[in-house]
Amino acid sequence: MNDLNQIRDVSFGKNVKLYHFVNLYGCSIGDDCSIGTFVEVQKNAVVGKRCKISSHSFICEGVTIGDDVFIGHGVTFINDRHPRATANGQLQTEADWQVIPTLVKDGASIGSGATILCGVTIGKGALIGAGAVVTRDVPDYAIVAGNPARIRGQVGDAPAQLSVTEADIGEKEPVPFTDLSFLTHQVQANFQSRLDSILATSQFIQGRTVREFEAAFAQHLEVPQVIGCNSGTSALHLALRVVGVQPGDEVIVPGMTFVATAWAVAYVGAKPIFCDIDLETYTLDPADVERKITPATRAIIPVHLYGQPADLQPLLEIANHYNIPLIEDAAQAHYADYKGKMIGGFGRMACFSFYPGKNLGAAGEAGALVCQFDADAEKARMLRDHGQRQRYVHEEIGYNYRMDEIQAAFLVEKLPHLARWTQQRQLAARRYEELLADLPVVRPITAPDRSHAFHLYVIQSEKRNQLLDYLQQHKITCGLHYPIPLHQQPCFSIYGQDKPGTLPNTEQLARNCLSLPMYPGISPAQQRWVAHVLRAFCEE
Ligand SMILES: Cc1ncc(COP(=O)(O)O)c(C=O)c1O
Repeated sequence: MNDLNQIRDVSFGKNVKLYHFVNLYGCSIGDDCSIGTFVEVQKNAVVGKRCKISSHSFICEGVTIGDDVFIGHGVTFINDRHPRATANGQLQTEADWQVIPTLVKDGASIGSGATILCGVTIGKGALIGAGAVVTRDVPDYAIVAGNPARIRGQVGDAPAQLSVTEADIGEKEPVPFTDLSFLTHQVQANFQSRLDSILATSQFIQGRTVREFEAAFAQHLEVPQVIGCNSGTSALHLALRVVGVQPGDEVIVPGMTFVATAWAVAYVGAKPIFCDIDLETYTLDPADVERKITPATRAIIPVHLYGQPADLQPLLEIANHYNIPLIEDAAQAHYADYKGKMIGGFGRMACFSFYPGKNLGAAGEAGALVCQFDADAEKARMLRDHGQRQRYVHEEIGYNYRMDEIQAAFLVEKLPHLARWTQQRQLAARRYEELLADLPVVRPITAPDRSHAFHLYVIQSEKRNQLLDYLQQHKITCGLHYPIPLHQQPCFSIYGQDKPGTLPNTEQLARNCLSLPMYPGISPAQQRWVAHVLRAFCEE
C-alpha cells in the first residue's frame, strides 16, 4: 500500500497488491487481487479472488466481479443508463443515481479500453475484445468484439483442461441438450437488417434471398444446383418424384434413421426396404444393401447419420452396378466429408434439412435438394411450385414446397459460420472422447476416411434407460436417436419387416443409444460435469 492512495471502508482479502494512486471506497476486494495505478473501485462494488485490474480502470457501484477475472487498462463500467447533471435546473445528487447492476462471471477477461454498459452479464470464461462496447449479455466462453460488441467465436477453441475439478463437482447448473441462442446471437444483427428489407419489399416467398441462398449453398458444396424447399422431408419427396419412383417400387433405406427418410418412400406409394447398419459407423451396411436389391429396387437412400457420412464408395459401386440412383439423406451432416470431398455431392441428388436444431438451422422449417443434373433440378423446381413452370399451367401433380425469404435470410447469414461451428462440435467430441475413455460405454468412432460433423454425440450403454434417468436427475438433458427402429414402427408394420432380430445391429443401437449434450457453445466445464455424472453412475 502507498500514501498516494485514497482508501476508505474497503474490505480487503489476503495478499491484495495495490499500485499508486488508487481510489477505493466502500467496496470489497478478494484474496490475491492486483489493482493497478489510477484504478477506481466505488462503493458496493465487489471484486472476487485472484483478479487483476489493470491501470486506469473504473469499476463503479453496481458492478460485481467474480473470481479469476482479468480487466485490462482503461476499462470503463457504467451504472446509470440515463445520467443527467441536472434536473429542473438543480444539480443532481447521489440519490438521483439509478444503479443498474452488472455481473462479470468467473474467469472472464476484458480487453483494454472496453466499455461495459450497465445491466449486462458477462458469462464465465468469456473474452471481451479490446475497445469493445458491450451492450448486451455475453454467453459463457463467448468471444465478443466491436461496437456494439458481437460474438466472434468461442473460447472453447483453446485447449481445455480435462480433469474434473472441485469446482465442477459443485456444478449444479442444468446442461441443456443443445443451445441455439449461442448461434442466433452471432447472426442476429445482420439477420435483423435483412428482415427489415424483406418487410420493406414484402416479398416473402421464394424471392431474391432464396436465390442468394441457393447459389451460396451450391458454391459451398461445390455442386451444380440447389433447390430451396420448405423442409428436408419435402426435399426427399421431391427427389423420389424426380427419379420417377412409382407405387409398387422398392427403395432401400436404413432401419436406423429419423422417420422422414422412409416417409418420402411411402408418399410416392413405394415400399421401404429396411437395411441394417454397420455397428462402427452406424450408417448403412453395403453388404446388407446388396443382399436386398431386387428387380423392383428404384433408389438407395443412405443416411449420414448423426453427422457421419455413410460408406459412399461401396454404395455407389452397388448403385452404378445395378443402375439405381443413389440419393443422399444429408439432413444431419452439413459440412461432413467423405474421402476429402464434402457430402451432398456424391449421389444423383442429396437432401438437406435446416430444421432449427440441425447443424445449419433455419428460424423455422426449411430444407434443400441438391441435383447433379440440370434436368432433375428443373423438374424439382416445377414440382416444388405446384407443378408449374409457367404460371397456372400445372403440368404434373405438384406441391407447395417453396422456401420462404425469412428462412433463406437466416441461412445466408449462418452459412459462413458453419465451418467454425462444425470445428467446435468436433473439438467438443474430442473432449468427450478423452473424458469418457475409461468408462464402460461405447463411444462413437469416426471412420478414418471421413470427417464427422457431430450433429449428435451418441454413446451406447446396456443400462441406457437407467443412465438417461440418472443424467436427467442431475439436470443433464440427453436424447434418444432413435429408440424404435423404423422397421418396427407401428406405421410401417404393413411392410412386414418388423420381426425382432430382422436388423440386429439397428435393434441393438435402438436399445442402447444415448445422445449426450452437443452443440458449438458447450463448454469444457459442462462436458466435465457430464463425464463426472456418467462416471458416478458407472461406479454406483
Ligand atoms: C435423417 C433425417 N432425414 C430427414 C429429416 C427431415 O427433415 P425436416 O425435419 O426438415 O423435414 C431429418 C430431420 O428432421 C433427419 O434427421
